[in-house]
Amino acid sequence: MQIVDIDFCVPEDLKSLVAIEAVCFDIPWEEHLIERDLNEPGYAIYMKATVKGVIAGYGVLGRVESTAHLMNLAVLPEYRRNGIALQLMAAFDEVSREWECRRMCLEVRASNSIARNFYSSMGFAYSSRVKGYYADGEDALILVARLPLRL
Ligand SMILES: CC(C)(COP(=O)(O)OP(=O)(O)OC[C@H]1O[C@@H](n2cnc3c(N)ncnc32)[C@H](O)[C@@H]1OP(=O)(O)O)[C@@H](O)C(=O)NCCC(=O)NCCS
Repeated sequence: MQIVDIDFCVPEDLKSLVAIEAVCFDIPWEEHLIERDLNEPGYAIYMKATVKGVIAGYGVLGRVESTAHLMNLAVLPEYRRNGIALQLMAAFDEVSREWECRRMCLEVRASNSIARNFYSSMGFAYSSRVKGYYADGEDALILVARLPLRL
């Protein structure tokens, strides 16, 4: 495992996050939405994992009542399988417990078996399926885990 620096994102991180989105997703989050979130922190918190000054991955967490909502998580391909996403999840686990959340939920593409394996290893289980959730028509699976996560 590579120990990385985990911290909150700042507006200056925008270009790095947009670059991660472009590499990691077929339908990336739009730059202006990320920019708005970074400049007007409120509902969503953004955290980054930095390796030798490079942002190697990031994630986004929100909250609905007593449920934390993992809204995004991505690590650049050349940094994967080093435990970086795991360390971001550990930070989100801590934030969720500060928020006094009892569980965490997320949506994942039905075809994304890598992410599904990753999440199930820390206690996420299938809750339901949302037909045509993504812009290209793919279904989302809703996964839910009790907190603390199994990290
Ligand atoms: C899913 C993702 C965030 C994982 O990031 P990562 O930093 O490589 O994950 P970690 O190294 O912390 O993996 C932790 C564990 O998850 C599982 N895992 C991660 N990647 C895996 C893979 N390619 N195949 C099988 N298991 C995998 C393993 O159990 C791994 O532990 P191990 O390496 O000791 O075996 C990364 O693959 C990614 O960015 N994918 C593209 C974006 C995406 O799909 N995001 C999720 C949206 S819901």
